[in-house]
Amino acid sequence: MTAVFTEATRQAMRRSLLSWYGQAGRTLPWRNEPNIYRVWISEIMLQQTQVKTVISYYERWLKAFPTVQNLAQADQQTVLKLWEGLGYYARARNLHYAAQQVVTEFGGQFPEDLEAILQLKGVGRTTAGGILSSARNLPLSILDGNVKRVLSRLMALDRPPAKALKELWQLSDQLLDIENPRDFNQALMDLGATLCKQKNPSCDICPWQSNCQAYQQGTPTDFPRKAPKKKIPTKKLVAAIAFNTQNKVFIQQRPVTGLLGGLWEFPNIEGELKPLLDELFPNAVYQQSLETVFHAYTHFKIELTPKIHTVKNSEGNHWVKISDLDQYPFSKAHLKIIEQLRKING
Ligand code: ADE
Repeated sequence: MTAVFTEATRQAMRRSLLSWYGQAGRTLPWRNEPNIYRVWISEIMLQQTQVKTVISYYERWLKAFPTVQNLAQADQQTVLKLWEGLGYYARARNLHYAAQQVVTEFGGQFPEDLEAILQLKGVGRTTAGGILSSARNLPLSILDGNVKRVLSRLMALDRPPAKALKELWQLSDQLLDIENPRDFNQALMDLGATLCKQKNPSCDICPWQSNCQAYQQGTPTDFPRKAPKKKIPTKKLVAAIAFNTQNKVFIQQRPVTGLLGGLWEFPNIEGELKPLLDELFPNAVYQQSLETVFHAYTHFKIELTPKIHTVKNSEGNHWVKISDLDQYPFSKAHLKIIEQLRKING
């Protein structure tokens, strides 16, 4: 592919972006952070989550696990509890696994070259570039969601970003300021997050206005082009909220791999509750339903209706007082049920 911009233009773009960043860049806890372990945690949290949500999780996490060794030695429940509510829980399981890789495969030293860092579970090309440019000022480009949007607009890309990854990576490489990769990448992410937003971009004050083909066409929000929408199915689920005679409630743990792996939940089933009750609580007595909770995952939505039952004979050790539920990691949907239970239990 021929270059979208001449080197002289790129040089001017680097200057204008860095100058804007000097005035308008955000102050964030992981910026100018030399500890590469900390930067890694921030980049994983930021993969699918916005800065304003990440900050408090990042700070709590580093208090609990100040070093990669602390994380490697932790148990999975503690790790998931600190991630609770952040979503995409495979990220937390992968961080935990990767910390153990650092200890066993890298002698406890967090890797600092691209090839080694890419071997860590959960670290792909953009995350590796994000970590190494941020922590070590290495000249590696990035291409996260925000950057894809900025670059798609710059070149008025006629396809969805997923269909043009090669061109987008090339443009990110060509634009990168190899004299100042740390600030350049951080500036590019800030531009995407604060000016070149999905809706209502602030083109009036954008340092790249005169370089942006989408702006020149007068249609920045027509870019990036969208992939045809797949219809997202909705699953209707019913949950059994079973209370025993000691007013404890039954919870179970999901298998450690797969969606929401390792998190706890109230037993639930698609469609009718009866087969589940027959299996787990054959003598359950229905009491009342709670409000249906709604949650959207990447590939489907759920509507989950909690139905409270009482049971006489309870076995197993996963009967928990409502006031102790906060010791277990739950998904968002089940946390919404717990909120309702707390209200009716005073
Ligand atoms: N998104 C991904 N990495 C980021 C960073 N270092 N700062 C702000 N947003 C980001």
